[in-house]
Amino acid sequence: MIRIDSVRKQFGSIVALDGLTLDVRPGEMFGLLGPNGAGKSTTMALLTGLHTPDAGSISVLGGDPRDPALRARLGLAPQSLALYENLSGRENVTFFARMFGLRGARLDQRVDAALDFVQLVDRQHDRVGGYSGGMQRRLNLAAALVHEPELILLDEPTAGVDPQSRNALFENVLALKAAGRTIVYTTHYMEEVERLCDRVAIIDRGRVLAVDSVAGLL
Ligand SMILES: Nc1ncnc2c1ncn2[C@@H]1O[C@H](COP(=O)(O)OP(=O)(O)OP(=O)(O)O)[C@@H](O)[C@H]1O
Ligand SMILES: [Mg+2]
Repeated sequence: MIRIDSVRKQFGSIVALDGLTLDVRPGEMFGLLGPNGAGKSTTMALLTGLHTPDAGSISVLGGDPRDPALRARLGLAPQSLALYENLSGRENVTFFARMFGLRGARLDQRVDAALDFVQLVDRQHDRVGGYSGGMQRRLNLAAALVHEPELILLDEPTAGVDPQSRNALFENVLALKAAGRTIVYTTHYMEEVERLCDRVAIIDRGRVLAVDSVAGLL
């Protein structure tokens, strides 16, 4: 599903990824656990073709992540929210659905399902600028999922989310896994990967320190 081999990525003098090697298998929930600056978001950016590696290779869904044809088969919920504050929640999700080629009845049906999934149906017509932080985070997830991607990349999806919404989000993520999606999940918290992930890579300074099942790591 994902193969990252000896990838190096540098921004000026900062080495963000320093020979990162990882494999993610189909249907797996894979955790990327690491502190600030470890290289988690940079890895996500490379997996979605937003950045190009300086060295090494990346294959996603059997192809090059820079191939636009692959883009519709994956969904990214970025750490920095990608939402339009002046549009309603529904308009935001509809925008992303259109970008991924959905039209007509199928578009409406998928937008309904995505909003329902993150429990924002009752607020769907409100301006996103007026949403709480946790609601924006949930809408960010809906926007990433609306086109039913095979591969889902969640970059710190629980950042700024209260404990109750966090539990709801865990249920959402587990439901996606049960539906057979492959998920990469980044976090600072061991307890989150323990609860959710099949396998985990602990990364720091752009390198994998350990990769194993949760039980194996513990
Ligand atoms: N566009 C960029 N320009 C310059 N430096 C960058 C850029 N993107 C990332 N970096 C640097 O690369 C390193 C890795 O950053 P990255 O955002 O991947 O870490 P992270 O693991 O996601 O951290 P966090 O947990 O804080 O989100 C950091 O030192 C960061 O400053
Ligand atoms: Mg990050």
